[in-house]
Amino acid sequence: MSDLVLGIETSCDDTAVALVDEKGMVLSSVISSQIDIHEEFGGIFPEYAARAHTTTILPTVDATLKKANAKLDDIRAIGVTRGPGLIGSLLVGTNTASALGMAWNKPVYGINHLRGHLRSADLEEQRVKYPAMVLLVSGGHSFLAYMKDKSDIKILGTTRDDSVGETYDKVGRMLGLPYPGGPAVDKLAKNGKSTIDFPRPMLHEKLELSFSGLKSAVNRYMTSEPNLDSYENIAASFVDSVMEVLMTKSRKALKQNPSKSFVIVGGVAASPQLREKAQQLSNRMKVELCLPPMRWSTDNAAMIALATWDYIKLGIHKPAIPQLQLSIQDF
Ligand code: KG4
Ligand code: ZN
Repeated sequence: MSDLVLGIETSCDDTAVALVDEKGMVLSSVISSQIDIHEEFGGIFPEYAARAHTTTILPTVDATLKKANAKLDDIRAIGVTRGPGLIGSLLVGTNTASALGMAWNKPVYGINHLRGHLRSADLEEQRVKYPAMVLLVSGGHSFLAYMKDKSDIKILGTTRDDSVGETYDKVGRMLGLPYPGGPAVDKLAKNGKSTIDFPRPMLHEKLELSFSGLKSAVNRYMTSEPNLDSYENIAASFVDSVMEVLMTKSRKALKQNPSKSFVIVGGVAASPQLREKAQQLSNRMKVELCLPPMRWSTDNAAMIALATWDYIKLGIHKPAIPQLQLSIQDF
């Protein structure tokens, strides 16, 4: 009989379920994406996200169990994202997890989505060497965290306003690109040159981040500049500004907190520009760059299951109740 955790993740627009063993091996992971639903709105429509979860959650649980050929006896516990996220979306996951826990007589653990992201780099193989510096850049969050080990996590700086991914998506919309804007902005930027001096928000302030000023600056430029540069150059200038901020903050964080690994997770880790800059910085700082496969960097339930294993081993239990005001330190 195997010993597995069933992870459930529905904090935003992906219905994700996975089965993971104690070592972080992923026996199955199924993700039902909602991009088709939200595309026409140019962003996530929260009510539609929750409705879609209600129809996909049980078939996704079913498909995950079938894929791994797992029996109920194989499951030791259920772990579900309790926050942060959209309330309607979180409720579908936590209610489903609670109902399954009751029906199957399994304990249910509420998991901080951000802890899941921070642990995602160790899925399938132990990649991270501790202490580690983690840069999380996703559509929902952006922060730098120092991990002395997998349980000793300290947030060093987070964004005061928009996340990096959200900023990419909004700039993508300004440039008339489809949602999600990140990959499209990157592609456009590759053919351009950084010719516009967009701001580098909070570059010299500690390790906090801020991107709303940069987003507004691009908007101001697009709406009031009489001689607009090419869209390729606008995209390249924007990306240049984001990269300078992220790399300056990461360098500062690594200098203050010597680390063995520099880990980047979250959807924006797919950016070739970010990957290149991060490699250069890692070489300079003599730290090992750890870029886990993208399937574990973007939202998934395997990371929630792995975080559940941490709780089981540490003897921590948090209820599966949505918590919107979840403190970023409440791991
Ligand atoms: O981690 P993720 O899949 O979902 C959240 O947890 O939010 O991140 C999605 C974000 C989107 O904002 C998307 O535009 C961005 O990641 N993204 C990228 C790239 N691919 C996805 N941003 C920049 N460059 C990319 N190649
Ligand atoms: Zn996420």
